[in-house]
Amino acid sequence: MSRPPKVQWHAPGRVNLIGDHTDYCGGFVLPMALDRECVITVAPGAADRVNATSLQLEGVVDVAADGRDDPRAVEPSWGRFVAGAVQAVTERGVRVPALDLEVSSTVPAGSGLSSSSALAVALTLALADAGGVELDRRDAARVALDAEVRAVGVPGGLMDQLASLFGQVDHALLIDCRSLDIEAIPIPDDIAVLVAHCGLPRTLADSEYAERRAACERAAAALGVATLRNATIEQVRENPRARHVVTENARVLACADALRANDLDTIGALMLASHASLRDDFEVSTPQLDLLVELLVEAGAAGARLTGAGFGGCAVGVARSRDAHNVLARAADRYQAASGLEPTVFIARAGPAAGRTLIA
Ligand code: GLA
Repeated sequence: MSRPPKVQWHAPGRVNLIGDHTDYCGGFVLPMALDRECVITVAPGAADRVNATSLQLEGVVDVAADGRDDPRAVEPSWGRFVAGAVQAVTERGVRVPALDLEVSSTVPAGSGLSSSSALAVALTLALADAGGVELDRRDAARVALDAEVRAVGVPGGLMDQLASLFGQVDHALLIDCRSLDIEAIPIPDDIAVLVAHCGLPRTLADSEYAERRAACERAAAALGVATLRNATIEQVRENPRARHVVTENARVLACADALRANDLDTIGALMLASHASLRDDFEVSTPQLDLLVELLVEAGAAGARLTGAGFGGCAVGVARSRDAHNVLARAADRYQAASGLEPTVFIARAGPAAGRTLIA
C-alpha cells in the first residue's frame, strides 16, 4: 500500500527595501519576499492535540486543537505561535484536527527579516488547510497577524504577512496598507539587494515598537484623521514621529517609480533619506546600524538603510549586481574592524509567495 502524500506549507521571510513604520499608519511599503522560508510538514496527529517539533528550536509543543490554550502560557516559547495560530484560525470557524507538525526555517531569527511572520503565515495556512478551509490571501495575512499578536503581544502592521503571502520571484511589492492593493514591480537584473546583519539582535524592539505606534496614533487623533496616511506634511512639520511617517510614504512612492525606471542612484538616495529619518525623527536606529549603513555606502552601495522595526538586526542596501559581492565583502571587513562585531551578509533574491507542496 502506498502512503498518502504528506503536505508541506512554506512561507518566506521578507526584506523591506523602503517604508518602515508606515504599515500600521495605513501607508506605503516596498518589501520583497526572501528566498529563505519557514517550512511546515503536516501529518495526522492524535487525541485532539496539535504537536510540533522544530529542526532548529528546542522542545516539543503540545497544545489543544480546539484553541483553548492561552498562547502566552505555552512552553517552549516558540510554541506560542502554534497556540496563537490555532486560536486565530479557530475563531474564524476552522475546526483544526489533531496534527503533528515539523517546523524548519532558513529565515535568520531576530534579524528584522520576519522569521516570526514566516512561521505564523505557514502555520495559519497549514492549520486552515488541515481544517478544510482555503483562506483568501489578504484574510490569511490578517489571521497570521492575529496569531502573532496572540503569541507575543506586539501590535504589528500587515507588511510582513502580506509580503510573505504575495511575494513574487525577482519582484518587489508596492503595498498600499490602507486599501491593501499590491503591485509587483520587477527588480532589474543589474540591481542587487544587499542584506547585512549588524551582529547584535534587536533589543527593546517590542516595547519601543508599541510606544512608536501609540505616538503615531496620538498624532493622527490630534489631527482628526483616521491614520497618518491622511496627514499632510504641513500638518506634521513640528512632530518628528509623524513627520517620519508622512515623508517616508512619499519616499516609498518615489522609490517605486525609480525601481520601475532602473534608476539606482535615486533608489539609493531615497534609502539614505529613509535611514536618516528613521534615525533622527523616528529614533529607531542604533550606532551599529548607522555605522553599517555608512560603510555599505563607502564600499560602493548606492544607498542603504536599516530595515524592519530597527533597534538592531539588519541593514538593506542596493548596488549594481556586478559590484555586489565586493561591496558586501568590503563593508563587512570594515565593519568588523571598526565595531568588533561580526556581521552576517548576503545578496537577497526575491523569492516566491507562501504555498503548498505535496511530498511523496
Ligand atoms: C515590524 C512589523 C511590521 C512593520 C515593521 C516596521 O517588522 O512587524 O508590521 O511595522 O516592523 O516597518
